[in-house]
Amino acid sequence: MQSSQTWIQALFYLALITVSLYFLQFYILSDRLMVSHHKVTLKKHPNLPLRFNSDGTFKILQVADMHYGTGLTRCRDVLTSEFEWCSDLNTTLFLKRMIDAEKPDFIAFTGDNIFGSSTNDAAESLFKAFGPAMAARLPWAAVLGNHDQESTMTREELMSFISLMDYSLSQPNPLDPTKQQVTTNIDGFGNYDLRVRGPPGSHLANQTILNLFFLDSGDRAVVDGFKTYGWIKESQLSWLRGASKVSLTGT
Ligand SMILES: *[C@@H]1O[C@H](CO)[C@@H](O)[C@H](O)[C@H]1NC(C)=O
Ligand SMILES: *[C@@H]1O[C@H](CO)[C@@H](O)[C@H](O)[C@H]1NC(C)=O
Repeated sequence: MQSSQTWIQALFYLALITVSLYFLQFYILSDRLMVSHHKVTLKKHPNLPLRFNSDGTFKILQVADMHYGTGLTRCRDVLTSEFEWCSDLNTTLFLKRMIDAEKPDFIAFTGDNIFGSSTNDAAESLFKAFGPAMAARLPWAAVLGNHDQESTMTREELMSFISLMDYSLSQPNPLDPTKQQVTTNIDGFGNYDLRVRGPPGSHLANQTILNLFFLDSGDRAVVDGFKTYGWIKESQLSWLRGASKVSLTGT
């Protein structure tokens, strides 16, 4: 009799401990382990395919060298009198004004989007730098300069991250058409091809009439002891030749 009571008590305590641990993990620890408290959302895609408009236009806004820091990083190369009142936010404002004024069909960000020495969180800077393009729900794509990878992400990580951002058409590297995998035998990160079709309802509606080739021109480099910048390598040109032949033959 005595021993069966002890057993019941032991089981009761065991159950109590299990339930407590479960609640501790579920309500307290899991919250801390989450990256953020934001609801997980899926990447938003722009309307595809890219197309010329009915009036025959396709307007591209090209933006380079935003050198974005934290969002509040001070401007460089402004008058001393302007310094106090000039930050990354002015870049954001400028980009928004350009988008409103020009109403582009596509935005191409061509490097030094963020500035390594002014940020210690590349992801946060990327969100802020490309924010206006995402807010405008415009299709956009980016490649890297030599400053983008100078903080917390490598060039490969940056291009993967950028490719996952809302409305982004960026790719780390082209898909190998035979294997349906990302091509690995190509230098750099951010080599890809975007195709733009003819206007809706026209006889070119289902054909690519413009190819936008993006190439990674690399980071800094040292050649024969001299500090210089990277360049487009033979592997990239070889891909470019192949891809442009494919698009010329209309597939
Ligand atoms: C930056 O934006 C602020 C706020 O709109 C403005 O007062 C300031 O003049 C701008 N700075 C420059 C250099 O344009
Ligand atoms: C383009 O493709 C759509 C859908 O398959 C088809 O309805 C349309 O007739 C095609 N247009 C031309 C010009 O080939």
